[in-house]
Amino acid sequence: MRTTGDDIRIKINDLSVGYTDKGQDGAPVLLFIHGFPFNKSMWKNQVAAFSNSHRVVAYDVRGHGNSEPGADNFSIELFVHDLNFVMDALDIETATLCGLSMGGYIALKAVINYPERFHALVLCDTNCTADTPEVKEKRLNAIESIKQNGVEGFADGLIENLLASQTLVTKNEVVAAVREMIVSTSPDSLFQTLIAFTKRFETCGKLPEIKIPTLIIVGKEDIITPPEAAQFMQEQIPGSSLSIIEHAGHLSNLENPDRFNDELKGFLASITNKKH
Ligand code: MLT
Repeated sequence: MRTTGDDIRIKINDLSVGYTDKGQDGAPVLLFIHGFPFNKSMWKNQVAAFSNSHRVVAYDVRGHGNSEPGADNFSIELFVHDLNFVMDALDIETATLCGLSMGGYIALKAVINYPERFHALVLCDTNCTADTPEVKEKRLNAIESIKQNGVEGFADGLIENLLASQTLVTKNEVVAAVREMIVSTSPDSLFQTLIAFTKRFETCGKLPEIKIPTLIIVGKEDIITPPEAAQFMQEQIPGSSLSIIEHAGHLSNLENPDRFNDELKGFLASITNKKH
């Protein structure tokens, strides 16, 4: 029997996974995957907005939020396997998949590997490229810096890059929530995920094969995965559309939730006549 709630856990291959499951039984499933180093709580505005029309599920990627890290080395492929197991365990045959940044890396790979499981895709503040040598080096430097100075300095530096200037000045509650998610992620999970990013493969070459309705969303001031990266993906994925969110950086769903939700709502309505 289905368990519903904001903060529940399920065992998947010996791994305890934290998740939210709201909305009606039998409603179309909207499945959210968070970015790094955050957790499912970053989707709280979307869970509230869409649980009247959808069964809304948001889970913690292993090593984040309430999900255990497990024994395997992190990789995007491992995260995609976990997603499959989460869907099986929650009895979700097919879903509309919505991932932000790291969640987008996972979502893209999942849709490419298991196209039959997803009937629509929402890619937020993400990209399809692999890390450049410079980015890899930055990630390795971040690991060293956390080892030497702790996670607080890492959180401060990251927040400056994540959020739009207006968010930093006017939305203290968003800044505090983002900081809390970062500092509550264990150093080992931070290191493992950063390493996994450096090893991930590009998915750009596969974008033309995506056949499901796709919406790409990006914060206008996203400097981590900027609008140009979103535009490139939009040009590569047949029939996809692009929404640029004003007053938002890399965390568009948290920084401008009203506008983000309007865009998502419009997209979901546009595919209502198709199965979703
Ligand atoms: C994220 O928000 O998931 C990260 O920015 C991903 C990354 O560092 O590549």
